[in-house]
Amino acid sequence: MHFQWYPGHMTKARRMMQENIKLIDLIIELVDARVPLSSRNPDIDEMGKNKARLILLNKADLAEERCNDEWVAFFKEKGYFAVKVNSKKGGGLKSIQPVIQEACREKTERDRKRGILNRPVRAMVAGIPNVGKSTFINALAGKACTKTGNKPGVTKGKQWIRLNKNVELLDTPGILWPKFEDQEAALKLAFIGSIKDEILQTEELAAELVKFLDREYPEVIGEKYSVENSGDPYERLRSIAESRHCLVRGNELDIEKASALLLDDFRNGRLGRITLENPAKMSGK
Ligand code: G4P
Repeated sequence: MHFQWYPGHMTKARRMMQENIKLIDLIIELVDARVPLSSRNPDIDEMGKNKARLILLNKADLAEERCNDEWVAFFKEKGYFAVKVNSKKGGGLKSIQPVIQEACREKTERDRKRGILNRPVRAMVAGIPNVGKSTFINALAGKACTKTGNKPGVTKGKQWIRLNKNVELLDTPGILWPKFEDQEAALKLAFIGSIKDEILQTEELAAELVKFLDREYPEVIGEKYSVENSGDPYERLRSIAESRHCLVRGNELDIEKASALLLDDFRNGRLGRITLENPAKMSGK
């Protein structure tokens, strides 16, 4: 799902988040494990202050395992609870429920001291488009899935998914807007397909991806497409077009098609598990 963001969208998304945040104890923030910082929303910390916080590195299957572990450690160090997951295949989901309890322990304790017993923890999922919010909710709800109707104290129409006797999840995720002002982050989000390709043309975007891969994962393109490294990203795209027989009008090389192929292979993990940013290099952000 792609969103064209403009101020109206952002204002609406922010208003929805602010309304829903009032109803919950815990924010489950999904980020993309390939770009854990660039896929975070800049305002979530401000909006979510005083709430328990859990960061899920989703799509962990597409990112390097070593980096996933480093990112989990990075977020824990900053005081968040953090877990790596693969919502598509269900990996890591089992370990979430105890972490949710742990994240909300302070609140449960407070309740207990006030004589409120057995009030379930309420959580909402939030994240920028395409990080896997719906997939995650469906994966969790598929297992538990007792939807609770309107209850006293709950805004009319809100649906809660009862995960177990201790946890309820709001069935609609909070949609956050991506970082636009940070060009480097925007480029990475374009690589993973989370914002429209039109920031850059497909070829330009693919050439940027070639540059990144040749720098950080120098074997990947050669191994996947059996091409030599000429050093020039556009030349690399031409070689990919040749090797994959991307042609137009009979025998002219179709660079656009080769670019789309490269981006698609990368986005779907066919170039292997690749992380676009690592904590050591991003620690200033
Ligand atoms: P959103 O609600 O945050 O916008 O994201 P959504 O769940 O729609 O997921 C966006 C895409 O990411 C979907 O792919 C989904 O299958 C994929 N996805 C979600 N979680 C994971 C994960 O942990 N690992 C991997 N590899 N992919 C994940 P799609 O291309 O839109 O659809 P499809 O490929 O599933 O048909």
